[in-house]
Amino acid sequence: MIIKINRNGNYQTYEINNIEDRTTILEVLEQIKNYQDPSLSYRAQCRASICGTCAVKVNSQTVLACKTKVKDLAVNDEIVIEPLSNMPVIKDLVVDHDEFLNKLKKAKAWLIPKEPFEKVYPEDLATYDRETDCILCGICYSVCPAFTNDKDFGGPINFVKIFRFWKDKNDALNDERIQTAAENNITSCIHCKYCTFSCPKQIPVEEDILQLEFYGKQKGIIKKQEDFGFNFGFGF
Ligand code: FES
Repeated sequence: MIIKINRNGNYQTYEINNIEDRTTILEVLEQIKNYQDPSLSYRAQCRASICGTCAVKVNSQTVLACKTKVKDLAVNDEIVIEPLSNMPVIKDLVVDHDEFLNKLKKAKAWLIPKEPFEKVYPEDLATYDRETDCILCGICYSVCPAFTNDKDFGGPINFVKIFRFWKDKNDALNDERIQTAAENNITSCIHCKYCTFSCPKQIPVEEDILQLEFYGKQKGIIKKQEDFGFNFGFGF
């Protein structure tokens, strides 16, 4: 198997001969680092799809390296591994998360507890259970084309977090969360659904953005596109 890795703009080629059906992209990177080239840099910690640090592009698909089997993405016995898009590269496959973490701060992506605390029942949790699975891997952020038109767009990950806490009855901000979505330029989303299709936790990211936008526009918290002189035909 030929493995090509984008190392700061140059593609370096390695060959690995003991690929099995269960071999993951992360195991390939470890083999290269341990036995061929100790200078190769990448991120990984949990090896179990939990920490979200190992996201990379493989043959143009953005995936978790520890969860993805080589055989599922190889074409003609070859894979090309590249760093995530939409984030500056620090070295090889290691990208700088600062911008997207700063945007999470701007989105207040944490619970602001309400007093007194209310019991949460299964039917309450069901409204945001999927969103609690977000591992901050940055895959949705890296595949999002909306930054081309608006570099201040919060990015899909922010709206997943805003949605999750907006739905939580123990969060004190309630509809202030919608105002936060507006301040993070939610209307710059072009609804391409790349975020939903690429999320390794199957979170319905674009659907969450639609719900936030719909509610915000109904309540007058988010301006409708017509108010800006545009209409993309979404009917709200
Ligand atoms: S190493 Fe933690 S998600 Fe892959």
